[in-house]
Amino acid sequence: MAEGDPVITEIQDWNRYPGDGVDARPYGQPSQFESHVVRKNVPWLTSDTISSINFTPLHELEGIITPNGLCFEGHHAGIAEIDRANHRLMINGLVDKPLVFTMADLKRFPGRENRVYFLECAANTGMEWRGSQLNGCQYTHGMIHCVMYTGVRLKHILEEAGVKAAGSWVLAEGADASAMTRSIPMEKALDDCMVAFAMNGEALRPEQGYPIRLVVPGWEGNMWVKWLRRLEVGDQPWQQREETSKYTDLLANGKARRFTWKMDVKSVITSPQVPIVHGKGRTLVSGLAWSGSGTIKRVDVSIDGGRNWHAARIDGPSLPMALHRFYYEFDWDGSEIFLQSRAIDESGFVQPTKDQLRAVRGENSIYHNNGIQTWHVNKDGGVENVEIS
Ligand code: MTE
Ligand code: CO
Repeated sequence: MAEGDPVITEIQDWNRYPGDGVDARPYGQPSQFESHVVRKNVPWLTSDTISSINFTPLHELEGIITPNGLCFEGHHAGIAEIDRANHRLMINGLVDKPLVFTMADLKRFPGRENRVYFLECAANTGMEWRGSQLNGCQYTHGMIHCVMYTGVRLKHILEEAGVKAAGSWVLAEGADASAMTRSIPMEKALDDCMVAFAMNGEALRPEQGYPIRLVVPGWEGNMWVKWLRRLEVGDQPWQQREETSKYTDLLANGKARRFTWKMDVKSVITSPQVPIVHGKGRTLVSGLAWSGSGTIKRVDVSIDGGRNWHAARIDGPSLPMALHRFYYEFDWDGSEIFLQSRAIDESGFVQPTKDQLRAVRGENSIYHNNGIQTWHVNKDGGVENVEIS
């Protein structure tokens, strides 16, 4: 007769003794058995953590919303720790009425909105331009998060200040030691940008720009200025460091693509990532897809490196410029496979292969790599980042 499973047959401590009472954990934390689910950086990528990035553990997450404590961080001069009582938002430049907002002013400003958006750093997948380099989707695709923002539409703030006829650009400036500054065209500023003070229902985290950050839906993360302190209206872009020497794409002919704002359609399989231990049989593939152009219309999955494609199932909300969750189930016969996903957005853009991308953009780039990712699954279920052509 088979031995009983002791987890069932023996009374466990948690079943025998009462646990902590209410208020033992006034701000709740995940189970101690989930302590491996954390943001991680790659130490050799940058010389100092104050000007660096870490990565969202995409392979451990479900659905489309990133928990606040797991949103990747991108800082150019560390985290500014600002008391909201000492923070102001200034609007100046080509406006009829320069304004200064306190946090209290912002919170009673009319026209508050809640919107779910992804934020992807332009450098996400940037280490993969010349070939597969890092293992695990946390590192290849983890410079992305997706949360619900609460804030005021930038349009309403600009209207309050009164943009002069010549005002065609907005400079956003951060209060951190890097004084991050980016030029944003007025058309985008008046369209869907937000000044956000909350994420996923609570105040922004210091890492994400507490007390306020700019939200620039669908556009590269660098423009989402954190610790936002000033908006200046002007009649031309300012050509700041972050939009000239950085965040431009050097092409094969030596010219640089400037102002590549929008994040192109992209997807990645986030599971399986740890070795498949169940062996042959029904296998669940899961992943994320997104586009700076709107919603995702379709995701295809291939298990043979892109020869044959199968429509995946998108589940959960399908919101413009937000992450989409997809699933594909198949019977794994235990042989080696090459897993890929390919997203198609509502405007018809199809995620390119890495070869197609290089044919247009060369190999000098760091930014805006939205090529199709391949995961090699070997007979033992081990998963590795590879490229096939
Ligand atoms: N804003 C300020 N003030 N300082 C910064 O260093 N980093 C930018 C952007 N906004 C940055 C900033 C970059 S490069 C990215 S990708 C995003 O913020 C990262 O946002 P996150 O830290 O919420 O992930
Ligand atoms: Co960035």
